[in-house]
Amino acid sequence: GASVEVDISRLQPGEKMVVEWRGRPVWVLYRTPEMIASLEVVEPRLADPQSERRVFPTPEYALNRHRSIKPQYLVAVGVCTHFGCSPTSRFTPGDQPGLPNDWPGGFFCPCHGSAFDLSGRVFANMPAPDNLEIPPHQYLTDTMLLVG
Ligand code: FES
Repeated sequence: GASVEVDISRLQPGEKMVVEWRGRPVWVLYRTPEMIASLEVVEPRLADPQSERRVFPTPEYALNRHRSIKPQYLVAVGVCTHFGCSPTSRFTPGDQPGLPNDWPGGFFCPCHGSAFDLSGRVFANMPAPDNLEIPPHQYLTDTMLLVG
């Protein structure tokens, strides 16, 4: 079907799970308080912190700093908005070769080097033309997510 139910009850803080939706990977990242705090810190370095570019329009309910319904859960399409490569998760600050040591971590696309924060927002001067896509989603219960 067009929608997929996702049980997030076993997801732990700091963990990411991947589900398939319409043939594409959708990430669910359970952000820790530290990860949530990093979203404000990185904003001056982002290309489009308010998700105004709308190459991939962000749903109304995700037009916020955490780009999600609940601050702790990011739900995003795990496909680079440049040419569709799959960004890798880098949750340890500064562990990405080629990026500054003060990079707070997020997602990094190995194809042409676009870096995204933990809300999937692209950093300035990167090849990716937009933030990562946020798929339509809603919570059926506290631990059951519906994507699509
Ligand atoms: Fe990701 Fe080009 S496909 S930076």
